[in-house]
Amino acid sequence: MRKPIIAGNWKMNMTASHAVFFLQFLEEELRYIGEDVEVVVCPPFTDLRSAATVIEADNFNIGLGAQDMYWEEKGAFTGEISPLMLNDLRVSYVIIGHSERRNFFGETNVTVNKKVKAAIAHHLKPIICVGESLDEHNRGETLDIAQTQLVEGLKGVAIKKADDLVVAYEPIWAIGTGRNATPAEANDAARHIRTVLGSIFSSDLAGKIRIQYGGSVNPDNISAIMKESDIDGALVGGASLDVADFTRIIKYNK
Ligand code: PGA
Repeated sequence: MRKPIIAGNWKMNMTASHAVFFLQFLEEELRYIGEDVEVVVCPPFTDLRSAATVIEADNFNIGLGAQDMYWEEKGAFTGEISPLMLNDLRVSYVIIGHSERRNFFGETNVTVNKKVKAAIAHHLKPIICVGESLDEHNRGETLDIAQTQLVEGLKGVAIKKADDLVVAYEPIWAIGTGRNATPAEANDAARHIRTVLGSIFSSDLAGKIRIQYGGSVNPDNISAIMKESDIDGALVGGASLDVADFTRIIKYNK
């Protein structure tokens, strides 16, 4: 009943012209994909206009996401991008709280919370990233970390429907390392995340919210991950930059 969602996080890769070629090529590959998986790409801000144009011109059944945003609508915030700017580009998703934002750019649960609220207020669907570091993992704190990040990140957040947000469980030690959580480990975390979502919203809504796994997802490990009961998709970094690999990930059940 939860439609799988596979999202590609391009991070700081691909120029706008490269993005156009990439999306045209991806469209060829996905022509027969059907409606059973929702596909989203999250290019850098500078690629969004070109990406939106290709997607719209070709009536391509793929969603567009940004990798971050600021919570104010406008003002003296040099270098930042507002929800209104994303709305204007027909962006529907926005990654919030990615561990690279948290680790390199000072993102905290407090700023995540402001961004999530602003995204929802502007009809953007946040893909909220949570996950523990290697040390935290080794200390057995995986579930506690995800719980704290969610409780603080979603404080005072109200949603009308389960589709209004997505949660990505991304253990930091698995991101870009080639070392992924086992499907069972990922599912344990996803199940706990769903319980926490149930206490924040309602168990009915939580049962319908989609939870992705992210961290070294590739064409060879995706099927096993997607078989897990509480995992409804993947947030894919490195492997989303290769059309063939990303296509194989999207077609994991074909
Ligand atoms: P990775 O990145 O697939 O390259 O590990 C995932 C992410 O950071 O979202």
